[in-house]
Amino acid sequence: MKQYFTIPITDIIRNRHSVRTYASEVLDKELIIKLKEYANKIKGPFASELRLELVDSLDFSEKTGNKIGTYGVIKGAKTYIAGVTDKKEYNMEQLGYCLEKLILYAASLGLGTCWMAGTFKRSQFAELVGLREDEFIPAVTPIGYHADKRAFVDSMMRRMAGSDNRKPWSELFFHDSFDTSLNSEAAGNYKVVLEMLRLAPSASNKQPWRVLKQGSEYHFYLKQAKGYGSALGFNIQKIDMGIAMCHFEMTAFEAELKGNWMVKTQSPLLGQEQNLEYIVSWIMK
Ligand SMILES: Cc1cc2nc3c(=O)[nH]c(=O)nc-3n(C[C@H](O)[C@H](O)[C@H](O)COP(=O)(O)O)c2cc1C
Repeated sequence: MKQYFTIPITDIIRNRHSVRTYASEVLDKELIIKLKEYANKIKGPFASELRLELVDSLDFSEKTGNKIGTYGVIKGAKTYIAGVTDKKEYNMEQLGYCLEKLILYAASLGLGTCWMAGTFKRSQFAELVGLREDEFIPAVTPIGYHADKRAFVDSMMRRMAGSDNRKPWSELFFHDSFDTSLNSEAAGNYKVVLEMLRLAPSASNKQPWRVLKQGSEYHFYLKQAKGYGSALGFNIQKIDMGIAMCHFEMTAFEAELKGNWMVKTQSPLLGQEQNLEYIVSWIMK
């Protein structure tokens, strides 16, 4: 089987950060081929179908007659990847998982990206990807070489979201019930897996994932920020969940820890979730 990643996933995750300021070079053709090839191989854990479409500046000028609209947030990018989903259950988690895989692969090739679910013109991308009635574009990312210096708006977005910080383990990971935090020793060989989840990007860096360990299972719950993203008309934080699943699974597989995803018919902690929504479980093998 072809090996796509030549750098440990833990290094890629530790070094990735959102890039909003790009150098002027267009993306190397070889890299585009590699990205497209890998994108075609990505399969998510859910049934929902999606396509990851690469669009470049040529498409912008031919089809939209001007530059792609990001409300000034992205500077200099000439290529984007649009995440196009169906409207089925778990489509947001599936998109989060699949596009993050491509984003981590791009990072391993030395390319910058930035998840965007808010600051882009959906109608332009709809035109560019030939969006069908039964499809939707929850998020896109620019992709390219980062500039030497961050533009002002880039630094400002980072400061506003507190992008350099992550919540401590005690707020994110739990043991048997949500009353007891999971410490890294109790996580055993899943310590690095959970740590890589903790470093995942999330919308406005809200880190809505909560993970509960029960025996040989890890249950993933969503702590929805009240009213957050309601103007978007879809649950942006479910994309964050898919991204977290991607980091968790890729790190587990690299550490040769076997397991699979399962959606239980009801929350393992039914009635005691304290405003948490059960999403999915990882079952160790
Ligand atoms: C689902 C999702 C949506 C996002 N939407 C935007 C966006 O619309 N505009 C933007 O500038 N950044 C957006 N971000 C980037 C986050 O602000 C960023 O990932 C977070 O602050 C953590 O910073 P880092 O990616 O550098 O680790 C989004 C991130 C995610 C995961």
